[in-house]
Amino acid sequence: MSSTSQTPITYDPEKYADYQSIESGTILNVELNHINTSMLLETHQAVWSPTPFGIQMGELISSDGCHEKIIMDFASGSGLLSVIAGKGGAAKVIAIDLNPKAIMMTQRNWALNNLKPEQLYALESDCFDAIKGHPEIEGKVDVIYSNPPTAPDLEGDVKRLSAGDWNINGQGGRIVNDALITQGRDFLKFGGEMLFITTSKQGSQLTCDLLNQYWGKGVQADGDDPLDYAIDWETRGEANWAVIKRVDLLLSDYYLPFLPQIKQFAKEQGQPEPLIEKEGVLYQKTYLIRAKKMA
Ligand SMILES: C[S@@+](CC[C@H](N)C(=O)[O-])C[C@H]1O[C@@H](n2cnc3c(N)ncnc32)[C@H](O)[C@@H]1O
Repeated sequence: MSSTSQTPITYDPEKYADYQSIESGTILNVELNHINTSMLLETHQAVWSPTPFGIQMGELISSDGCHEKIIMDFASGSGLLSVIAGKGGAAKVIAIDLNPKAIMMTQRNWALNNLKPEQLYALESDCFDAIKGHPEIEGKVDVIYSNPPTAPDLEGDVKRLSAGDWNINGQGGRIVNDALITQGRDFLKFGGEMLFITTSKQGSQLTCDLLNQYWGKGVQADGDDPLDYAIDWETRGEANWAVIKRVDLLLSDYYLPFLPQIKQFAKEQGQPEPLIEKEGVLYQKTYLIRAKKMA
C-alpha cells in the first residue's frame, strides 16, 4: 500500500481538465460512470494526471474486458489505464514510460488500488527500447493501450521538469505515435490489438499512411482528412484498422506555446488543417484508433 493517508477527493472532469491544477500527493477518487466502478489515483506534479479523454479511454478498456489478458500500457503516466486493466482482471500489465516518476506513480497507484504487485511490470523506457527482444514480452501481448504524448518540440533543449515537459516528443509530437505504429505489432500476439489516441495536430495524413504501411489497409474517410470519421469496430469488414471514436477537444492553454510549431509542421508536411476554430475557440480533433495484428 502507498504510505499516504490523505482523504480522497472526487475527480471532477470539468475542474481537473487542466493537469497543472492538481498538486502532488492529492488522492483522486475517479468514477468510471459507464461501468459503475471507481479507483483511487495519487497525483504528482511531474506526472501527467488523468484527463477526461483518458478516462473515456479507460471506460472503453473496461468494456473491452481484460480478464486473464496480457496488457501493455504504453506511456503510462499516473498509471490510470494500467489500474483500470488490473481492476478488470488482467493477468499481467506491462507499463512503460520515459519519465521515472511516472513509473514510480504507476507502481504507487497500482498498490493504492490493492492490486497484486507481481501482476505489474512497470519500467522506464524510451518508447519500446528497454523491452525490444524481451522473450516474455515480444509477440506475447494481447492488447496495447496508449494515450501517448502529443506535444511537438519547441526551440532549444527540452528541460524535463513539469508533467507537460515530459510530453514533448519530436517534430509534430510524433515520436511515440510513430513508435506505436511501426513497432507495436512486434509485441502483439497474432490476433492481438492496439488501441491508441492520435490527434489532428500531429498530421492525420501521415498517421493514416503509416498505419496502412505497417498494419495493412484501414478504413479511411473520402474527404480532406482521412481520419475524420468514427465507426463501430465490428462494421470494419476486411480492414485491419479504423477510427472508432472522434471527439473535438478544446485546445487547452498548455498547447498555446506550441501553436507556431503545430501550424508550421502541418504546412511543411502538407497535412490537413491541424486545428479547427469554432466561434473564435480552437479545438483539436482527437481520434481513437483500433488496429488488429493479422497474420
Ligand atoms: C498524455 S500522457 C498519458 C498518461 C496516461 N497514459 C493517461 O492516460 O493519463 C503521456 C505520457 O507519455 C510519456 N512519454 C513521453 N515521451 C515518451 C517516450 N519517448 N517513451 C515513453 N513514454 C513517453 C510521458 O512521460 C507521459 O507520462
